[in-house]
Amino acid sequence: MAVERTLSIVKPDAVEKGATGEILRRFEAAGLQILALKKLHLSTELAQGFYAVHKERPFYKGLVAFMTSGPVVVSVLEGEGAIARNRELMGPTNSEEAEAGTIRGDFGTDIERNAAHGSDAPETARVEIAYFFNASEIVGPCEAL
Ligand code: RTP
Ligand code: MG
Repeated sequence: MAVERTLSIVKPDAVEKGATGEILRRFEAAGLQILALKKLHLSTELAQGFYAVHKERPFYKGLVAFMTSGPVVVSVLEGEGAIARNRELMGPTNSEEAEAGTIRGDFGTDIERNAAHGSDAPETARVEIAYFFNASEIVGPCEAL
């Protein structure tokens, strides 16, 4: 399996619960290295741009309101099959359907307030990483991507 990079966001609900450290710990325990990390409070424009792919969806306005409701912690993760591995750790989009032991099962509430974001494909990962980080902010031994 290829070494990949993915973008993770610990969403405002999980940051507010004090779950940031536990979520980052799970990434590292699963063999994902943290190459870049920052905490920020998204502006409406930044959240709208990040989720622009969903702008015609009925949940878009609520999603942007949620994502700007408090600080988030954004990171770049790297590892073998990092995109799928991160999504396995998160569990399904709807926290109510996520198993205990997954990030969304343990820290999410419902389909919107679901604790974490993870890129869904190599191309979206590249775009999402560049949305939040300059190349000089990403530190790692592997220059695979
Ligand atoms: P994400 O992009 O945040 O990692 O989540 P995902 O791939 O599992 O889900 P996606 O379909 O990309 O949806 C993006 C985020 O929008 C919110 N959502 N709300 N109310 C709703 O029906 C609904 N559906 C999605 C969630 O916060 C979801 O993570
Ligand atoms: Mg998505």
